[in-house]
Amino acid sequence: IPDYFQLEGGDRMPRIGFGTWQAADDVLEKSVEAALEAGYRHFDTARAYENEAALGRALNRWIKGDPERRKQLFVVTKLPPGGNSPERAQEYFDASLRDLNLDYVDLYLIHTPFAFEHVPGDLHPKNPDGSMKVDHSTNLLELWKTLLKLKESGRVRHVGVSNLNAEQLARVCSVERPACLQVEVHALCQQQPLLAAANKLGVPIVAYSPLGSKALADALAAKTGREYPDLLQLPTVTRIAQVHGRTPAQILLRFTLQRGLAAIPKSTNPTRIKQNISLWDFELSESELSELAALDRGEDGRICDFAFFPGVEKHPEFPFKK
Ligand code: A2P
Repeated sequence: IPDYFQLEGGDRMPRIGFGTWQAADDVLEKSVEAALEAGYRHFDTARAYENEAALGRALNRWIKGDPERRKQLFVVTKLPPGGNSPERAQEYFDASLRDLNLDYVDLYLIHTPFAFEHVPGDLHPKNPDGSMKVDHSTNLLELWKTLLKLKESGRVRHVGVSNLNAEQLARVCSVERPACLQVEVHALCQQQPLLAAANKLGVPIVAYSPLGSKALADALAAKTGREYPDLLQLPTVTRIAQVHGRTPAQILLRFTLQRGLAAIPKSTNPTRIKQNISLWDFELSESELSELAALDRGEDGRICDFAFFPGVEKHPEFPFKK
């Protein structure tokens, strides 16, 4: 299987990218250096992660001002929910590019279909009762058209979407097909209906939390009482890992690749960073793929349902209807 997705115009998106959510700046810079050393060229961030400047510093040290080296990278960032309006998208995009200290990004995504009110200096604005300041006036198609227009500046090569459901994806595709849909996909949340819909529409999928984001799952479990198993310790996964002489993480990532997806695992540990991109010299059998497919819990396996943003479920474009 190829190690990249072919995009419009001939660009390639490497199918293993480096995720950067929830890492402190100095840790992130070191991790990105280790990732570059290990061969990663695809880096995924977002305005909302508040780490674009740190990622930009590490990338620019590697680029060394050489446009040919810049071309080898595939850098992704995302419009935050507080910028989800045609009036605001441009200024948030400009701020991302400035912090990354790059001339262009390879891919710019709508981070979520729901929106927060635009509050300068506050990416996660809250009401006094702790709920989010949700902006109910979002027009997803107008926002999508605004992103498409951003391409004309030459400062973004591709645009796409994240955290959309199948109905929203079809609606967006009625204007123009996004370069990708980035959503949560892992062994417990395999997203079969959404993936089938995206496949029909011709939209490639990038899987976030491909290892099950244990830290996020634990934090949410503490709040909601929902318990998530550690994917890396599931008996099916550890047994298949032993058979191949690989680690559980490599089995989960290879499963994601053999399902036809891209994935953006994150790690701050150089050994694990290397492991997570060393996936091209072994293959899971049909029966192993079936065993892994049987781990799916559907909607119950979802970790990132945005429950940490109380009130978003009332937004007209909230993607995860229960
Ligand atoms: P660490 O940074 O200490 O390696 P996800 O990408 O699904 O959000 O998962 C990220 C989590 O998985 C992080 O807590 C990371 O911890 C851990 N992780 C990443 N790669 C591996 C690996 N190869 N083996 C075990 N744990 C890993």
